[in-house]
This record gives sequence, structure tokens and C-alpha cells, in this order.
Amino acid sequence: MTATTGPDPDDHASPAVLPRGVRTYKPRRSRPTARASQALARGSWALLPMPAGRLDLSAEFGHGVPVVLEIGFGDGLATAALAEREPERGVLAIDVHTPGVGELLARIEASGLRNVRVVEGDALVLLERSVDPSSLAGVRTFFPDPWPKARHHKRRLVRPAVADLVRDRLAPGGWWHLATDWADYAESMRACLDSAPGWSGGPVPRPVDRPVTRYERRALAAGRSVTDLVYRTEA
Ligand SMILES: C[S@@+](CC[C@H](N)C(=O)[O-])C[C@H]1O[C@@H](n2cnc3c(N)ncnc32)[C@H](O)[C@@H]1O
Repeated sequence: MTATTGPDPDDHASPAVLPRGVRTYKPRRSRPTARASQALARGSWALLPMPAGRLDLSAEFGHGVPVVLEIGFGDGLATAALAEREPERGVLAIDVHTPGVGELLARIEASGLRNVRVVEGDALVLLERSVDPSSLAGVRTFFPDPWPKARHHKRRLVRPAVADLVRDRLAPGGWWHLATDWADYAESMRACLDSAPGWSGGPVPRPVDRPVTRYERRALAAGRSVTDLVYRTEA
């Protein structure tokens, strides 16, 4: 554990990239599964406290190891599957939902993964205050909360200020892979990233190696189609 400052369990910092008091997530009261509870109770070397200061990615993953940040990993199914396939990368995975953190820790333990670190907290706060500029190889955001009602669109994660923040934290030529099952959110993601400075990209065919999560399966069963988008920063 190499976060330079200690955990702050009462941390409710509001990200500067959102309107004051607005969050991209809603508090959920679902209970952890038995295996997630057990993983949380055991604790894990892979679980980092939400850092109050800078996070030294080289110290966590090794010097020169490309690091991918996953924002909102849910139950960690895609996180663990992709990390297993890409041992040469470090995966920094963050979500606000404690039961999901337990699920991912259980998966890490079961698969013997060494290249994943898990943080429980707000990804935007982590990006703003703890991730160095130009330090990430890529960012994944699969099925961010859609906030379909117009009055809730201000809670959507993909917005111009976040595009600027992510671009700053990515190394030149870094990528942001997004997926959503809400057509209007896909359109608004495109509009945002097409007009944000320093990005190029757009929709891509569904990458065969992106695992189908429970969330995606439910969306497909409900008749929604999925859009994958990949944008890159200037090399
Ligand atoms: C709809 S779920 C999708 C989960 C997962 N990516 C999947 O495909 O199954 C969105 C997830 O993003 C998380 N989330 C939303 N805003 C977040 C934020 N600002 N920081 C970290 N996690 C966030 C939620 O807690 C939730 O687990």
C-alpha cells in the first residue's frame, strides 16, 4: 500500500468537475453476497484506501507498467476477466459500492490476480486529487449510470469537464473505452468527446474481448442495444 497519505473514511469530497453537491451515483443499500462479505472481512492487499493525496502508480504496479483505470466496475466481472488476460498491465479499479468491492476482492483472490488494485470511492475525486497528469495508459467506463430522466442528466459522468480531466490524466495516445446501453447517452457521449479538445475517435464494433456483465445482459434482455466508443488523446 503506497498511497502517500492515509485513508479518510469520512471522505465525502465533492468533485470539482460536477455542479456542487451533485454525484454520478446513487447510494444503494443492497447487501453483499456471502463471498463478498467474507472477502471484505478478510481484507486484502489489493484494496487501497481512498488516498487523501497523490497515488504513486509506479510503486503500486511497478516502474513502466501501463496502468488502466476502470471507473465503476460494478461486481468486477469484466475487471477480473480483462486483468487475467492482460498481466502486463496494471488495473486500478474504483467503485463507490461496497458489495461490489467485496465481489471484486473475492474474484481477485479466486483467480490469484496480482495486477489489480481496488479503491472504494468516487472516481472523479480520485482523478482530480490523486492521479498524476499523463500517468494512465487507458480508462474504461462500462455502462456508467444512465440517469435517463432529463432532470438527472447533470449526474451523468461523461461531460465536458470530465473529458478534460480524463484527457489530462492519460498519457499521450491514451484511450478511453466507453460502453452504454442508452442510445441518447451514447449520442451525448459522442457529442461531448467530438467537441472536447484533444480527443479523436467514435463508435467501434463491440470488442469481442469485452466480457458481458450482468448489467449488459439485463440491458440486452430488455431490448436495448449497446454502443462501444473508443476515443484517444493526441500522441
Ligand atoms: C450501471 S453500473 C455498471 C457496472 C459495471 N461497469 C458493469 O458493466 O456491470 C455503474 C457503476 O458505476 C458506479 N459509479 C457511478 N459513479 C461512480 C463514480 N463517480 N465513481 C466510482 N464509481 C461510480 C456505480 O456504483 C455502479 O457500480
